[in-house]
Amino acid sequence: MTTNSMGDLFVATLRDMYFAERQLLKALPKMARAAQNEHLKQAFTDHREQTQQHVERLQEVFEAIGQRARGKTCEAIEGLIGEVEELLGDAPAPNAVRDAGLIACGQAVEHYEMARYGALVSWSKGLGYGEAAKLLQLTLNEEKAADRLLSQVATDEVNDDALKVAA
Ligand SMILES: [Fe+2]
Ligand SMILES: [Fe+2]
Repeated sequence: MTTNSMGDLFVATLRDMYFAERQLLKALPKMARAAQNEHLKQAFTDHREQTQQHVERLQEVFEAIGQRARGKTCEAIEGLIGEVEELLGDAPAPNAVRDAGLIACGQAVEHYEMARYGALVSWSKGLGYGEAAKLLQLTLNEEKAADRLLSQVATDEVNDDALKVAA
């Protein structure tokens, strides 16, 4: 698809996020299973539920602007999920260290989503897509909250435990 206008760019970015969110639906349960800290496990599990909502909201946004919901390969999310797989690979780190790594990977994903949804909210307002702006803002708020929760689990619990693991 050629991107000649802000309308095109908006749709192209929606497709990118539709792909990304559906990949995350598959990745988050793996992250929850791998997490040892109970609060971290819960955070990933809860965010998977929210991610299901993000997929549904994107479908509503496509519908609101008269486009068919369709994803387009997002190399950024594939790379970020690839880093999770690397962390959980052949020789996984000790538990607390792995949890610290999972949090960092999770936050990289949330920051990516925040950047994209931030742009989508602002563009949709400019394009006069009021319904889309409202839906995308809800998702943006949840990504920010997920990011804050991960920071909290890291600073309250996981980082200290990870730093105690002998080198
Ligand atoms: Fe999301
Ligand atoms: Fe997210």
